[in-house]
Formats: sequence, C-alpha cells, structure tokens
Amino acid sequence: MIQRLLITGAAGRLGTLLREGLKPYAKSIRLSDIDALTEPARDGEEFLRCDLADHEAVSHMVEGVSTIVHMGGAAYEQYFEPILRGNLIGIYNLYDAALAHGVKRIVLASSNHVTGFYGTDEVVSTDMAARPDSLYAASKSFAEMVSSFYFHRHGIETVCVRIGTCISRPKSQRCLATWLSHADFVELIRCALQADNVGHLVVYGVSNNPRKWWRDEAAERLGYHPKDSAADYADQIAPLSQNDAHNLWQGGQVLGRDYRCGGKVPQDWKPDK
Ligand code: NAI
Repeated sequence: MIQRLLITGAAGRLGTLLREGLKPYAKSIRLSDIDALTEPARDGEEFLRCDLADHEAVSHMVEGVSTIVHMGGAAYEQYFEPILRGNLIGIYNLYDAALAHGVKRIVLASSNHVTGFYGTDEVVSTDMAARPDSLYAASKSFAEMVSSFYFHRHGIETVCVRIGTCISRPKSQRCLATWLSHADFVELIRCALQADNVGHLVVYGVSNNPRKWWRDEAAERLGYHPKDSAADYADQIAPLSQNDAHNLWQGGQVLGRDYRCGGKVPQDWKPDK
C-alpha cells in the first residue's frame, strides 16, 4: 500500500480516471493540476493547485510523497510555449523535487507519438530509436531521457508509459491498432506502481488489439495482461479513406495543423480540452 500518492494532471481526462482507479492502492492521494478539479477532493484526497513550470510550487507539491503518477502537462500538439512550460521545464522541476524529497518511483505519461513517424506497416519496439511526430512528442521523448538520467544517476525508478489512444471505445481505423481501454489503462498504471525492481522502463500502453503496431514485452514484465480488444468494435468503425497521407504514419494526424507562430502565441488561443 502506498502511503501518499501524488497524481499530477488530476483535473484531466486520465487523471480523473486514476483518482477512482488507484484509490484502493494508496492510503491517501494528493491531486494536483494547474486547473481546478472537475469534482472537489473527497475523503482520503487533498488538492494542491500547481503550475509545473513553477519550481518552488512543484517542490511543495512533491514534499511528503513517496510515489508519483505524472499525467500533467501539455497533452497534444500545440504552440511551443505551453509544451515548454508544462513538459520541458515541468519535467525537470518534477525530477529535481523528487530527488530533493526522496521519491522512490514515478510512473510517467509518455505517448505513442514518440514513435509516430514510423510507418503503419512497421512493428515498433521500445528499443528502437524515437521518431517523434510533433514538438509535443519530442517533449515526451525528452521526459523519457530525463527519467533515464535520474534513474542511472540517482536511483529514482520510472516506468514511462507510451499511452496509445485512451478513450472509452475505439472510434477510427487508427484506434484498431492504438486503443487502450480505460480499464486496461488503470490496470497498467497499477502494475507500473506495484511491480518490483522496474529500474527505468519504457512500455507501450495498449489493449489486446490484434492490429497493434507495438511489441509490448516490457509491459508484460510488469504483469500487465490487457483484457479489452479494439477488434470487438471493428464493425462499427468507418473504413479508411484511400489516398489519405495520415494513414501512412503511426501518429495519424501528424501532418495536421502547423503551430509555428514566430515565438508569439496568439492572445485569443486556448488549448482544446
Ligand atoms: P488532459 O489534457 O485531459 O490532462 C492533462 C492535465 O495537465 C490537464 O488537466 C491540464 O490542466 C494539466 N496541465 C497542463 N499544463 C500544466 C502545467 N503547466 N502545470 C500543471 N498542470 C498542467 O490530458 P489526458 O488525456 O488526461 O492525458 C494525460 C497524460 O497522458 C498527458 O501527459 C498526455 O500527454 C498523455 N497521453 C494521453 C493520451 C490519451 O489518449 N488521453 C495518449 C498519449 C499520451
């Protein structure tokens, strides 16, 4: 049983799922986000509002916890500034605080987009080089590297989970490969928290989809055996449109909107939630 677990990004989609799902495994849970929670903290929970880019606030957020599930930060491609603050400065602040306060293990939300520029006709494993399909994905790759450094230099264990598409049910042909059901996601995070001697490990987070593009022996080492399969929904999903360049790359919409802005984020821009 974890004494006090910190979940960052607790106001987000996956953080909200983990609040419920990880309750049985921690005596108390500290929730944190830059935004307000969708539902206020309940018994056994406390909430600390914190911007990951604020070094002092992050240190305060981490003080007194032994284990962290890190979901916070920019969660998709967008202008560089929120990626810089949430994911690059944020990951440094988190590990610096973890070291200062004696945190033993971190489970880190990485992304399948770290290898998004491999083709949909390839099978990718975690020992292959990263091919990020966006600046967002490059920031996740950076997080994987930073966590590797903090393990080999300082002994803080990390499981980096390259999360597939974690939604209630698969909605596109791409999801037939990438879908991660909510139940399998919570189970994978539980395994990553409870497995012994994980060291520094990178795993793909995907359900038991026959069409998946990733080898996931590493996740099996954690004791993760996914129960759900996107194939059960295949007949409800529209066929691929031919000549669609997005279908060539595992990352899907990798050739989508271009967020270059000459260093100035438009004032009226808000990230999609
Ligand atoms: P989300 O956008 O719903 O949640 C992320 C949370 O981080 C938000 O509540 C946001 O307020 C918070 N946040 C953003 N910038 C912050 C900052 N500077 N300081 C503190 N908090 C900040 O995203 P979701 O879907 O819950 O994803 C969680 C994590 O999983 C993200 O790191 C994302 O990159 C990763 N992921 C999610 C996938 C999915 O299918 N949902 C797929 C691949 C990766």
